[in-house]
Amino acid sequence: MNTSRQDPPGLGTEHPHPRVPTPAEVEEMPIEDAARLATELDDVQVLHNQRKWPVPGTRAEKRAERSVALWFVISALSGLAFLASFLFWPYQYVAPGAPGYGLYALYTPIVGGTFGLAVLALGIGVIAYVKRFFPDEVSVQQRHDGASDEVARRTVVAQLVKAGTDTGIARRTVIKRAAGAAAGVFGLALGIAAIAPLVRNPWKLGPDSPLWVTAWRPIGGETVYLRRDTGDPTEVSLVRPEDQEPGSMETVFPFRESERGNAEALIAGLSGSDTPVMLIRLRPGQPVVQRAGQENFHFGDYYAYSKICTHLGCPTSLYEAQTNRILCPCHQTQFLATEYAKPIFGPGTRPLPQLPITVNSEGYLVATGDFREAVGPAFWERRYTP
Ligand code: FES
Repeated sequence: MNTSRQDPPGLGTEHPHPRVPTPAEVEEMPIEDAARLATELDDVQVLHNQRKWPVPGTRAEKRAERSVALWFVISALSGLAFLASFLFWPYQYVAPGAPGYGLYALYTPIVGGTFGLAVLALGIGVIAYVKRFFPDEVSVQQRHDGASDEVARRTVVAQLVKAGTDTGIARRTVIKRAAGAAAGVFGLALGIAAIAPLVRNPWKLGPDSPLWVTAWRPIGGETVYLRRDTGDPTEVSLVRPEDQEPGSMETVFPFRESERGNAEALIAGLSGSDTPVMLIRLRPGQPVVQRAGQENFHFGDYYAYSKICTHLGCPTSLYEAQTNRILCPCHQTQFLATEYAKPIFGPGTRPLPQLPITVNSEGYLVATGDFREAVGPAFWERRYTP
């Protein structure tokens, strides 16, 4: 069928359109002809087209090839480094000053830096390839409205293939291998980074999984005391009921006698992400609603609640004695200290876990067990049963 395209009104062109072949005819055409047809059908006039390396195999060309390949090699190596650090670098939290903190602190910079370098080098490699091997070309195209037809789409594909051919990609083995390695490693790294968090199972220890257990859990029958932070991590200051005024709050941490004199353990005791507890002494005579099954968690007017907000994990440090409200400064969730710290305002939906406490025979406040609920923000397996 012999058809010809119409120019939009007012957009006349000096170059008559060629006969438009059928898609089947385009399939049969040599790449060169199809690419040329694409330019003609698109009203493109090629004014200048100069190959970058008309004489193949010169030393300058090989140098250009190596410099492009170098970027892909850098990208591949960075991708490998990202993979290795993502999989094997110690990522578990280590408190400042504790052994291993230096390595832990480097985790994010190393993972981010290697990933960034892999992407950057890959991008530079592609740009360098285009700049050094794509022909210099000056073209002028007339604009036309509407979508391209089937023939135009097929010839454009031929045009792209030809552009690739013009760069001599078929014989640039070094660049092809380096780019393949970079793209392959990068894709592999992205895939592993996406899947790895699903492979690590935080529940594999069952009831002893880290999300369920805190340092308040008594181990081997050893007493867990409530300890305050004096500013000197090696100083042990235990808490007695008479230390605290009615209508006040103090932050406390777990301590075992076996940790005494062990600087590392004492520092760790003050820096656990799930261990800070607010010890609140209510004013006398406050009506209190206990949570079912936790009626004996308090000692007199003393109530101990996790300090970690159940919304997004900020420290809920503000206690107002007049209203008995605990306020999280991050998004203003308010918990009621006289009603098992249940949320009464704001985005938090779960009560702060309550730590069971009592006073031992020496007169110190001690924990009688761990929290019954996981500390901190909600996760999908949690259930709130009032
Ligand atoms: S983290 Fe506490 S209200 Fe959002």
